[in-house]
Amino acid sequence: MKEQIHLTLGDLTRLKVDAIVNAANKSLLGGGGVDGAIHRSAGPGLLEECQTLGGCETGDAKITKAYQLLARHVIHTVGPVYRGGHSGEALKLASCYRRCFEVAAGSNIGSIAFPSISTGAYGYPVGEACRIALTISLEQLAKFTQIESVVFVTFSGKDLLTYARQLAEM
Ligand code: APR
Repeated sequence: MKEQIHLTLGDLTRLKVDAIVNAANKSLLGGGGVDGAIHRSAGPGLLEECQTLGGCETGDAKITKAYQLLARHVIHTVGPVYRGGHSGEALKLASCYRRCFEVAAGSNIGSIAFPSISTGAYGYPVGEACRIALTISLEQLAKFTQIESVVFVTFSGKDLLTYARQLAEM
């Protein structure tokens, strides 16, 4: 299981995997950060499809095509806004990762790449968030054996190191 998890530093939109995960907001109508980067790279078709989805609840995930991206699909998930850790944020973040795997498994996806959900504009501490990301991913890889590869794409060397240290402890 652990050998199916890969860590990398860089721009998620440049990955050629079956699906990349978008750290979206509930409207699914775009935003900044990785959401903005994905919409810019995918082109207007992505927003047009997102407009048909009726939004997305925190902790849930919805899938679209990827348009001009190298990936085949985009799985949009809405992470929790971090408010100190006592408002169910950990459960909601875990639900994001679980739902992304469930949606991927239902769409014949073998490789999936995640950004560090909720750790940018939504303020989730990277150390806690990556522990949840890695724990749920290992749990879901055991469940959905058709998913062969999970890539975590970090946007800073510091985050990459945090993920690497956490993975090494698991
Ligand atoms: N590739 C990979 N990672 C990226 C990229 C990129 N191109 N751009 C940003 N990141 C990283 C950030 O550095 C952070 O570590 O993705 C992580 C998530 O940060 P955000 O994109 O801010 O997402 P999040 O914290 O979940 O906040 C979501 O921000 O962009 C809006 O519409 C979005 O309202 C939603 C909110």
